[in-house]
Amino acid sequence: MLFPILIIAHLLGASVWVGGHVVLLATVLPLALRENSAARVIDFEEGYDRLGLAALAIQVITGLWLAKLTIGDWRPSLGPPPTAVYLVGVKLVLLTTIVVLAGRAYHRVLPRIAEQGLKPFAVHAWVVSVLSGLMLVVGGLIRVGWSV
Ligand code: HEM
Repeated sequence: MLFPILIIAHLLGASVWVGGHVVLLATVLPLALRENSAARVIDFEEGYDRLGLAALAIQVITGLWLAKLTIGDWRPSLGPPPTAVYLVGVKLVLLTTIVVLAGRAYHRVLPRIAEQGLKPFAVHAWVVSVLSGLMLVVGGLIRVGWSV
């Protein structure tokens, strides 16, 4: 019973995190750039920041738990590790990059958006969104396997 609950929580968290970024990229950011309006981005972030952070926290907790259940023993054994181990490693590298960039966007780029303009924030938003999309793909590959 635990495994399906973790998968559902992981998918819900992924929907909120990735969905929020799709809304940002597809509607909020283009409008803000067209109107040169930092306020549009700030308004969106004020509404989304807690939700997004909660979703990311759920991803980390459920993701590490799922990895423990999927991979089992973390200790090195003889022979090459299963593909899932590499894919979880890729997810951890992506996660670290996402956390660093999202933290930088929130703490350094967003407070200076009025002076520096929207471009630095737009670059951060795009990179974080693409990496988050990759998280979905790699997660799916862990589930269905890598064989082509
Ligand atoms: C933005 C963050 C993340 C997103 C969008 C994401 C998305 C996904 C998706 C869509 C799946 C497929 C679920 C399924 O099989 O139905 C998945 C699986 C998985 N994710 Fe994530 N994930 C994220 C973060 C993490 C983190 C931080 C970890 C920790 C290492 C992790 C570990 C896993 C594992 C182990 C699976 C495979 C579960 C299984 O089928 O056995 N994920 N992820």
